[in-house]
Amino acid sequence: MKTGFSVFLAAVIALGLSWFGLVYGPLKQLGGARETTVLQSSDKWPMQPTGEATLGLQVYRANGCAACHTVQIRQTGAVNTLSITDLGVHKAADFKDFITSLMVVPELMNYSNSIVGSLNQWNGSVPKLLFSGEDIATVSLLGDKLKAVGVKTEARVVATGPDIARGWGVRQSVAADYLYDTPVQLGSLRAGPDLANLGVRAPDANWQLQHLYAPRSLVKNSTMPAFRYLFSVRKIGAQPAPDAVVLPKEFAPAAGFEVVPAAEARQLAAYLTSLKANVPLYEAPFTPITAAK
Ligand code: HEC
Repeated sequence: MKTGFSVFLAAVIALGLSWFGLVYGPLKQLGGARETTVLQSSDKWPMQPTGEATLGLQVYRANGCAACHTVQIRQTGAVNTLSITDLGVHKAADFKDFITSLMVVPELMNYSNSIVGSLNQWNGSVPKLLFSGEDIATVSLLGDKLKAVGVKTEARVVATGPDIARGWGVRQSVAADYLYDTPVQLGSLRAGPDLANLGVRAPDANWQLQHLYAPRSLVKNSTMPAFRYLFSVRKIGAQPAPDAVVLPKEFAPAAGFEVVPAAEARQLAAYLTSLKANVPLYEAPFTPITAAK
C-alpha cells in the first residue's frame, strides 16, 4: 500500500511539474501578449490581417507549406554603422587624408585599420559605409568630427546574421509578429526560402498565384511542387476571367482554355503577401531605410 501511494505521489509531481513547465509557464509568458508599438512611431504592430489572409493561413497549413518553409527570421546581433551621405566640399583624396589624421584620437585608434581600410580604392561615391561595429560611442564621435568639417553622415542600427545577409529580412522575428496566427507555423526545415518578410520581397499577388501554379515559370529549375489543384483549367467563356493567371507559353493551357485560381489560392496569395517583418520593435530595433534625403 505504501508503494502505491508513493507511485501516485510521484505521478502527481511529475505531471504537475510538466503542466507548470509546458502549459502554465508559456501562458504566463505569452498568454497576455498584445499589440506592441512600432519604435519611434505611434503605429501598432502587428497589423490586423484581412479576412482573406487569415483564411490563407489555413490553406498554408493544409498544404504542408511549413514542411519546406520557415516563417521566422533569426538574427545573431546588431551593429551600429556610420555612412557618409555627402562629402560637402571635400574630394575623396583629401577626405582620406583627413580621416587618417583623425586616427590619433584615442577612441578611434583601435578602429583605425578598419576605418582607413574601408576607404581604400574608394572613388568618392556616396553613400559609403565608413564604420560598422558594436561601439555606439565611436559612431557618435566620428559623426561629430565629420559634421564639424561639413561632411554629412548617417548613423544606423543594422541587424546581423546569416538570415539577414540572405536578404530574408531586416530584423529577427519576435513573438508579437505571430499575434494573429492560429496556429503559428514557424516551420523547421528550409528547403525553400524563409517567408517571414515575403510580402516586402514579392508584394504582387499575381506573382504568387503564378508561382503556386507553375513555380518553374518564374524560377528556373525550381524544386517547389506545383500546387495545380488550387486552380481550375476551364474553357474561356464569352469573356476571359479577370483573375485568370497569365502564363508563359510552355506553361499555358491549350488554346481556348484558361487557368483560374480557386478561392483557396487567392486566400493563400493574400496570406503570403501579408507576411511582413519590416518595422522596428522594442525587442528587435533597427534603423529603417527612409527615402534618400
Ligand atoms: C518540397 C518543398 C516545398 C514545399 C512543400 C513548398 N515549397 Fe515553396 N519553395 C520551395 C523551394 C525549393 C523554393 C525556391 C525556388 C522557388 O522560388 O521556386 C520555394 C519558393 C517559394 C516561394 C518564393 C520565395 C521567395 O523568396 O522568392 C514562395 C512564396 C513559396 N515557396 C511558397 C510556398 C507555399 C505557399 C507552399 C505551400 C502551398 C510551398 N511554398 C510549399 C520548396 C517548397
